[in-house]
Amino acid sequence: MRIALIGFGVVGKALVELLDVQREVLLARHGLNPKMIAVIDSRGAAISEHGLSSGELLACKNAHGSVGSMRDHGQLGNHADRLIRDVGCDVLIETSPSDLHRPEIAISHLRAAMSAGMHVVTVNKAPLAVAMPALLELARYNRVGFRFSGTVGAGTPVLALASRCAQGNHVRAVRAIINGTTNFILSRMTETGERFDDALAEAVRLGYAETDPSNDIDGVDTAMKLTILANHVMGRRATIADVNRSGIRALDRERLDDARSRNCVIKLIGRIDDSGLSVAAEEVPLASPLNVGGSLNAIALDCAVGGEVVIVGRGAGGPETATAILRDLIDIWQIDFNHQPAKAHP
Ligand SMILES: NC(=O)c1ccc[n+]([C@@H]2O[C@H](COP(=O)([O-])OP(=O)(O)OC[C@H]3O[C@@H](n4cnc5c(N)ncnc54)[C@H](OP(=O)(O)O)[C@@H]3O)[C@@H](O)[C@H]2O)c1
Repeated sequence: MRIALIGFGVVGKALVELLDVQREVLLARHGLNPKMIAVIDSRGAAISEHGLSSGELLACKNAHGSVGSMRDHGQLGNHADRLIRDVGCDVLIETSPSDLHRPEIAISHLRAAMSAGMHVVTVNKAPLAVAMPALLELARYNRVGFRFSGTVGAGTPVLALASRCAQGNHVRAVRAIINGTTNFILSRMTETGERFDDALAEAVRLGYAETDPSNDIDGVDTAMKLTILANHVMGRRATIADVNRSGIRALDRERLDDARSRNCVIKLIGRIDDSGLSVAAEEVPLASPLNVGGSLNAIALDCAVGGEVVIVGRGAGGPETATAILRDLIDIWQIDFNHQPAKAHP
């Protein structure tokens, strides 16, 4: 399987490391031999017809800041769209930043790949938040696989489990804590009595939040993931413009103390129900399975038969997100390449 990888940051680097670790298992168990033919970051690209070595890619990135500086294989300047068309790979993996201010860059990567007949895996949420119905249609039109399991829940297979629940049942509503940073801040405010600014400073210090944490605390990241859940699990043709959103920036301590007096905590909840899609701080009973601490994610599905199903797990991390990409690659290999495993495994 010939792969082009866009983005060589936390997730991209974790992916090439994971592919190395899993190489023998992938071949023995699935007959899958992934080859990294092209890797692109914001400053350049590395290309090799025979496959790029993960050790050389990582060493070059660490030493020079760009894979474009790679000896013999490097190309300075980033022309990702042209490269996608010219290099001739089977699969494009998109791991550039989820930038809602400029989603058209990643959208053009996905469109170029699909139009060239390539299968696509993305962990970039922005293209899906803005244009998921159109992208799903384009993938169908071009008969290519389109996977995005790392966009919600990182390594926790939220989308796969949730869409499985929707088969043979009806998911009436979803309530989701899908942003680890805000859950860390709210858990901290609840447990230590800190004010919002102090809890946010601690989140930045520990690396849970970016230096500019607006996407998290204003509910934008939750809204992007909620849009993906709505399309994938509930078949809604939604975009982020359909999400009624407020964050936790204006949340004061008194609101948490009030909630506590009613045996509740405050969580940033993404909600999909009959009245639409929303993101807002809501009270959750202390005893609810949605009351998860730290930076955990939790997604509650209200199923017509059987009632509530709750999925809990870590929702971020480079290695975790890389496992989601690998899951998607194996699915593409088995379903879109129609390649069945050589033998059954327990
Ligand atoms: N990290 C997580 O836990 C996690 C979990 C789930 C989903 N995600 C998603 O995964 C994606 C990657 O996250 P990350 O943590 O790996 O981010 P990151 O460390 O900031 O890496 C982003 C990479 O994209 C490259 N890039 C930026 N603009 C580009 C362009 N126009 N063309 C080609 N490459 C470009 C950057 O290049 P330079 O190296 O030159 O700057 C960098 O290598 C994001 O969309 C994020 O939302 C991340």
